[in-house]
Amino acid sequence: MKKWIGLLIFSVALHTYAQHHIIPAPVTYESTPGVFTFGPTTYMLGTDFRSYMDGFTAKDYFIKYCNLPLKTATKAIGQGTPITLLYDSTLNLPDGGYQLVVEPQTITITGKNKGGVLNGLLTLMQMVEKTGNNSFQVPCCIIEDYPQFQYRGMHLDCARHFYDIEFIKEYIDYLAMYKMNTFHWHLTDDQGWRIEIKQYPKLTEVGAWRDGTMVGHYRDQIYDTVRYGGYYTQKQIKEIVKYATDRNITVIPEIEMPGHCLAALAAYPELGCVADTTYKVAQGWGVFDDAFCPKDETFTFLQNVLDEVMALFPSTYIHVGGDEVEKIRWKKCAHCQQLIKDNNLIDEHGLQSYFIQRIEKHVNSKGRTIIGWDEILEGGLAPNAVIMSWRGEEGGTLAAQQNHYAVMTPGNYCYFDYYQGSPLLEPLAIGGFVTLEKVYSYNPIPAALTAEQAKYILGAQANIWTEYISYPEQVEYMMLPRMLALSEVLWTPTENKNYDDFIKRLLFHFTLLDKTNTNYSKSIYQVNYKLMTDETSKKLYLELNANKQLGDISVNSVDVTSGEKINFIYDKPFEVNATTPYVTAQLKGSIKNAPVTNIKLNFNKATGKKVILKTEPSKKYAGDGPGTIVNGIEATVSPSWSGIEWLGFSGTDLEVIIDLGEVDTFNTVSTGFLYDKLSWIYPPSQFTVEVSDNGKLYNKIGSVKIETFQKRTVASIKTNNTTGRYIKITAKNYGIIPSGNPGSGSKPWLFVDEISIQ
Ligand code: ACM
Ligand code: ZN
Repeated sequence: MKKWIGLLIFSVALHTYAQHHIIPAPVTYESTPGVFTFGPTTYMLGTDFRSYMDGFTAKDYFIKYCNLPLKTATKAIGQGTPITLLYDSTLNLPDGGYQLVVEPQTITITGKNKGGVLNGLLTLMQMVEKTGNNSFQVPCCIIEDYPQFQYRGMHLDCARHFYDIEFIKEYIDYLAMYKMNTFHWHLTDDQGWRIEIKQYPKLTEVGAWRDGTMVGHYRDQIYDTVRYGGYYTQKQIKEIVKYATDRNITVIPEIEMPGHCLAALAAYPELGCVADTTYKVAQGWGVFDDAFCPKDETFTFLQNVLDEVMALFPSTYIHVGGDEVEKIRWKKCAHCQQLIKDNNLIDEHGLQSYFIQRIEKHVNSKGRTIIGWDEILEGGLAPNAVIMSWRGEEGGTLAAQQNHYAVMTPGNYCYFDYYQGSPLLEPLAIGGFVTLEKVYSYNPIPAALTAEQAKYILGAQANIWTEYISYPEQVEYMMLPRMLALSEVLWTPTENKNYDDFIKRLLFHFTLLDKTNTNYSKSIYQVNYKLMTDETSKKLYLELNANKQLGDISVNSVDVTSGEKINFIYDKPFEVNATTPYVTAQLKGSIKNAPVTNIKLNFNKATGKKVILKTEPSKKYAGDGPGTIVNGIEATVSPSWSGIEWLGFSGTDLEVIIDLGEVDTFNTVSTGFLYDKLSWIYPPSQFTVEVSDNGKLYNKIGSVKIETFQKRTVASIKTNNTTGRYIKITAKNYGIIPSGNPGSGSKPWLFVDEISIQ
């Protein structure tokens, strides 16, 4: 069998063949002569694959997508053309591997195990070509295929918003279609307890309901008063577990502890540190102070809960949360402090470790393994725990270095609640920026690991937290198409990966999603832009970027002095100036109604000029480099701001010099700052402008105190025909966040979007 030497060769040679559609791309594919034609005598033949043959594949795929009903049989039918399903555990392939041989009269799928058989069927399904009204064929070929990673996961938060089991089944169908094999079901959190526990009925009677929900973005702090909630009965959970098992998907339940437990405390307040608090199921998002108090009765409760959970979910791994545990209550609780003393624990981190280890013992005693968010590394890792690395890749790296298994789910690549395109063109999301291409570029093995340590990386998972995702279509939108990129990251060998080729294949999958009216993001059709300065002519150019194979970029503008309309097809960066402040760009020829990018440029003497930053922004909020603050583009703050148009300074001042290139005259210097106290972002306390002709000696032109704040606060100094070449701007960090505010006592962030010199 031939190894693929890169998909490009095949994309040229075999353009009309359907293997191009396969996502995730297989390990090896060899084209052979002829085609298999589906006819009235075609049937699926297998003895041990009822759930695949009758359920998932036949009904949910062949009929749903191809309108192609297939008969099934457990014994060969004399004259028929069979699709034979077998498994052979001696096959020299990893679990989930399969061979698929398509010949003119027969198709044979041999799986390493049952899951391998399903994977082969899934590949076959994507290869079916419609050749006429009711005729279908598959090109002959030999495929040998297997996953690179054994853990291919998708998570769904059903606590912030609740999804009924009909949607959970659809979600599982999409996972299965793309050979994902793990569904991480986030069932409990501050905002709702979603799983029926027979011994503790109040968990769902009380804990599954909240009296209102945050509306819009967290930073706006607006709530409705509509009672919201829901939960899964144990009967429904069993139904979902069976449904998933029938599709080769393992369901890992997550029961959060010791934090993110307000819903449980609302039901059973005696499990918290503070007895007299009236706990309420949370209505807003964020991290709350309360945690389970590590009393004996709390452990009894949690062990009883976990026993019911383990009876429902056969998964080896049981997720126990462990993330974002505030230590405030534990610090003030006599029981917690005594426990720290009695067990010689260092501090509250040690107490968290004690908590998780005690739970681990119980879970291990039932033959299961705990998995937890990477905070469970703090204060000492439980002996057999698996780490889910979400705060970057460090947690997974540390775990693997200590010979612990890890699942990678770093925010920068795997948080599917983040924006996948320009926030100006996307529905409201929590923030962040994880494009399809970014997901596709991910390598789950952290660079710091040796080959031996790398074996501890089980795979990766994308997380869908649902604070800003309140209905099923929005889950689909955030999942698709990013999950397809993740599926290829986890399945396909790196040498077979190619983003351009992936995009080509993706277009076929868009047609499948259209067939079932599934909602998915079209952000790959967006046009991105960047303002650049030509160093010699000092003219400003707009660079546009889009996926070239999806069409041409059509540019529209208008000359505001003459009124003349400007329209052309983009081929290289083009000059813009004060007469053309409005530009729109859109991909033409790929889809109807591709998203339109509207660019409004505020030209002034600083635009596109050289920026020398004397203080460093945070790596997380470094925009598009220092030029971000003179790119002529003011950040939007309504309905919400996103990181991309800002430079963010963590606790420090801003000191920046703009080099105008030559001595010039100007009348005002102004700068925009963000105010978002819930995110600990404050405008500066003082704004100062200095000027220099030579860049060495500066004259102070003016300084103002900033006392009134708006969402975008503009600090401005009149300079009255000042001349100079270098303009130094100093914005003094607000100082210390006053008490009574989020982050009080800490130094706030300083965010700057744009400097204007007029
Ligand atoms: C997490 O995102 N808090 C695991
Ligand atoms: Zn306590």
